[in-house]
Amino acid sequence: MRKPFIAANWKMNHTLESSCQFLQELPKQLGKIPSTNIDIAICVPYIYIIPITQKLVSVNQENGYNVKIGAQNMHWEAKGAFTGEVSGPMLSDIACTYIILGHSERRTLFGETDEKVSKKAKAAFASGLMPIICVGETLAQRDSNETMGVIQSQLLGSLASLTPAQVEVSTIAYEPVWAIGTGRAATPAMAQEVHKMIREYIAKHYGESISQNIRIQYGGSVTPENALDLMAQPDIDGALIGGASLKADSLSKIIQATLAKKNLL
Ligand code: PGA
Repeated sequence: MRKPFIAANWKMNHTLESSCQFLQELPKQLGKIPSTNIDIAICVPYIYIIPITQKLVSVNQENGYNVKIGAQNMHWEAKGAFTGEVSGPMLSDIACTYIILGHSERRTLFGETDEKVSKKAKAAFASGLMPIICVGETLAQRDSNETMGVIQSQLLGSLASLTPAQVEVSTIAYEPVWAIGTGRAATPAMAQEVHKMIREYIAKHYGESISQNIRIQYGGSVTPENALDLMAQPDIDGALIGGASLKADSLSKIIQATLAKKNLL
């Protein structure tokens, strides 16, 4: 049984003040949950990792939560002359747990290739960080029936440097580019079809047992409303959430919907 995994991707949003308000609000909205049944991460801008981690200690303690912190990108080298970059050892040094790699915004706006994602994923494990590796097709690729081929090639390239044991504990986030930030989520059936294909790809390349253990999140306009049907799909193990993760109430509703649909409440 795969434990569901909900990750908030704040992108370049929030101020220090509004992120602290989010943390104050979270227990009020989320209430009591069976925390051991679900993994929850908030992936914040680098500069908020330390203050948010400090505040999370008491939020977690007082409410029995185990919410972890993630970052949204990293460099593959451990240190050196790379102005403006942040490394894996630096992130683990400040108690960061997860790292989003290969998000479509990084792929399209910042030249992130599968090869770079693969190098970063290897470096993430070397620093004890758990990668969330994003894949997804554009609308043009979907319309010309290239979805499966595009995703298989992203998986091939992005996972190339990882050992099977590392693949097993990685998270894959299926995020169709046309669904990100558009309000137009994939239908549950569309998402399930791709998630199933991703699991079959992992089974073929890494074996059945690894394919049954790897977690595959759906991302792209997830809301409290559509989360119920998405999370009812057998191969959807959670979500990577942008817009709806910025408010404690909508993120909480998605977490509750996930626990309910996976019969874990
Ligand atoms: P969205 O973003 O939920 O705002 O569509 C998802 C993501 O980019 O991870």
